[in-house]
This record gives sequence, C-alpha cells and structure tokens, in this order.
Amino acid sequence: MSKLYIVGVGPGSKDYLTLASKKVVESSDMVIGSRRALDLFETPNEIELKAQNMKEMIELAVSMVGEGKIVSLLSTGDPGFSGILKPILELKKNIGIEVIPGISSVQLCAAKLKIPWDEANLITMHGKGISMDILDIIDNGKPTIILPNFKPAELAKFLIENSVSPEREVAICERLSYGDEKVIKTSLKSILGMEFSYMCVMVVY
Ligand SMILES: C[S@@+](CC[C@H](N)C(=O)[O-])C[C@H]1O[C@@H](n2cnc3c(N)ncnc32)[C@H](O)[C@@H]1O
Repeated sequence: MSKLYIVGVGPGSKDYLTLASKKVVESSDMVIGSRRALDLFETPNEIELKAQNMKEMIELAVSMVGEGKIVSLLSTGDPGFSGILKPILELKKNIGIEVIPGISSVQLCAAKLKIPWDEANLITMHGKGISMDILDIIDNGKPTIILPNFKPAELAKFLIENSVSPEREVAICERLSYGDEKVIKTSLKSILGMEFSYMCVMVVY
C-alpha cells in the first residue's frame, strides 16, 4: 500500500542507523534525502534534497504517494526534532504517513556529556535565528541543549550581552558520530573567538 515514510537516519554515522530505518528504505519505490543521508543506504531510486529544493521535494514525495508509491523521505537525526516532520504535517495532505524515529544529535550530545536529558532545556534555533525565549530559561538551573543556527559565537555574544556570565561553562559537540567528531568544554567567552562547522550542538551549563 502506498505510504510516505518519514525516516530518521541518526546524526551521521551508519552505526546509529536503526534496523527499522533500513527495512523501510530498502522496501521503498523512491528514497528522497540530503546527500549525507542517502549515502547511508544502497538506494537504486533516489532523489537528492538540497536546502534550496526542500519544498519542491516534499511536494514531489507527497504526489508520488498519491500515485500509489511507497516513498521514504530521510531526515537526519530524528524527524520530530527540528526535522522534516513539521513541514510535512503543515501541508495537511490526506495520505498515509508513518514516522520512523532516529537518534537525534541532541540525544547523542546528551550521551557524550552524560546529561540526563529529561532534566535539560531543549532549544532549536536552526533556521529560525536567535530567540529571546532562551533568556527565560537559561538561569533555571538545568543544562540548556541548543541547536545554534550555524554560529555558536553569535549565540555566545548574544547571551553575554544579555547578562549571562562570560565565565559560564559551555560544551560544543561538533560533527557527532563522524570520524572527526569533537567535544570541547570551555567558557562562554572563549566561544566568541572560535569557529565551528554548521553541524554542532551547544550546551550551556
Ligand atoms: C535541520 S537540524 C536537524 C536536527 C535533527 N533532526 C536531529 O534530530 O539531530 C540540523 C542541525 O542539527 C545539528 N546536527 C545535526 N547532525 C549533527 C551532528 N552529527 N553533530 C552535531 N550536530 C548535528 C546541527 O545543529 C545542525 O545545524
């Protein structure tokens, strides 16, 4: 039966793929995803999704399902955290959808830093920019795990300008699960002079 599978593929490495994601992808007529997500599978029928063609690709996936196909739309990490689930639901299309969860970069970050994440603040600024909302929770005594919208230094500057101590302890987890993964712990003020890849999770303790 036709269906749109929204498949979480983990933070990057094959080691964090689930068996459920493999089964679904292998049984799909078409697989759509970013290059790094597609490269995790052997997929004869695939279409590459880029930031510029995301809306078009989502609409294509939905129309293929309408024509009777089984389509997998890959989402790095988990589709429900700053992922592709939200834009799909916003289309309000009457098609069969199933979500296959994946391991989020937030989960892997929490594991690396040994943070029980039921006791953390979770915030995404990805694609949205820095939000004032962070100031309401940053001093509530819990670690704040953030997807920082590309530039941790900009976020550090914003926090310091809004009275967060420059000495506050911060961790950056960069390119989690890849061979060149880096996890550093430092102070908020040290982040000001540092550059990171867009693939990082920031924690303010
Ligand atoms: C569009 S969001 C997708 C988040 C994804 N749904 C998840 O659950 O991890 C992309 C952001 O996730 C974070 N991210 C994704 N993969 C990562 C990785 N391997 N290491 C560190 N951060 C990662 C980065 O902040 C990146 O800019």
